[in-house]
Amino acid sequence: MKIVCGNANRPLAEDICKYLDTELVGCDVRRFADQEIFVEIQDNVRGQDAFVVQSTSYPANDNLMELLILVDAMRRSSAKRITAVVPYFGYARQDRRTSGRTPISAKLVANLIVEAGADRVLTVDLHAGQIQGFFDIPTDNLYAAPVFARDIKERYETGKAMVVSPDVGGVVRARALAKRIDAPLAIVDKRREKAGVSEVMNIIGEVDGYDCILVDDIVDSGGTLCNAAEALLNNGASSVTAYITHGVLSGEAANRISKSALKELAITNSIKPTKAVLDAKNIRTIDLAPLMGEAIYRTYKEQSISSLFN
Ligand code: R5P
Repeated sequence: MKIVCGNANRPLAEDICKYLDTELVGCDVRRFADQEIFVEIQDNVRGQDAFVVQSTSYPANDNLMELLILVDAMRRSSAKRITAVVPYFGYARQDRRTSGRTPISAKLVANLIVEAGADRVLTVDLHAGQIQGFFDIPTDNLYAAPVFARDIKERYETGKAMVVSPDVGGVVRARALAKRIDAPLAIVDKRREKAGVSEVMNIIGEVDGYDCILVDDIVDSGGTLCNAAEALLNNGASSVTAYITHGVLSGEAANRISKSALKELAITNSIKPTKAVLDAKNIRTIDLAPLMGEAIYRTYKEQSISSLFN
């Protein structure tokens, strides 16, 4: 097994290697003066089972291009099988045409990864599960839910916690977590008037007196979360925390979360936290490396991955 990574999230790749008791393959990823990406793999990977770890997070296009070039380099270096390990699959929110004359960029990015030479994809909490079908190669979509459930059980009193989906689109994900921790479910009926601005309308469910746990796949501007937290507290919730898989946290989001009514935001390290995220007092990171490391091990050993989630 050979594991290589680009510049998107080296600490996560190193932690995955620690879990697997192996070392990252030496790899030089650098830029020409005009910002073209150049990659040189420094170890022999001929005939090996290769895993390229790279989230397509900010800067999304640079990190995507690094992923494609790393996969191409592995293919041309005669790796036997290449798995694109993409903890955060950016562009996933563009998974359908929302109006006329728009692209389906998630499908385009999937095509690029396959065309570059990936034989498999391993990712976490895809924005929509059906994006797996955009790849015409085996694609494993891991869930952060068991990791979140373990963390929640350590911190919350049974009977006092309620899982809340911050929008109608996230109900399936929220229900799965509620089932794991044996908690009731509520839903925030959110209306987004224009892109980037979210507005809370109604709470479906009785949240009065509960410690509410918002669950979602992505926190980007933080608008959805902060508005939902306020609405839940206005409806009598005792406290509001959030468990979100991918901390995209663009621009002023970390600052916004720090100043919000959220008691705590727990994110995973699918995306490397920025300084602003690390400095925010109410943002905590939960490690995905053991889950990803185990999934990589099982891929290598041709063992079941779905049984990780039973
Ligand atoms: C939307 O469908 C996603 O699941 C998230 O709710 C959304 O991307 C969060 O965005 P923001 O933090 O900018 O409100």
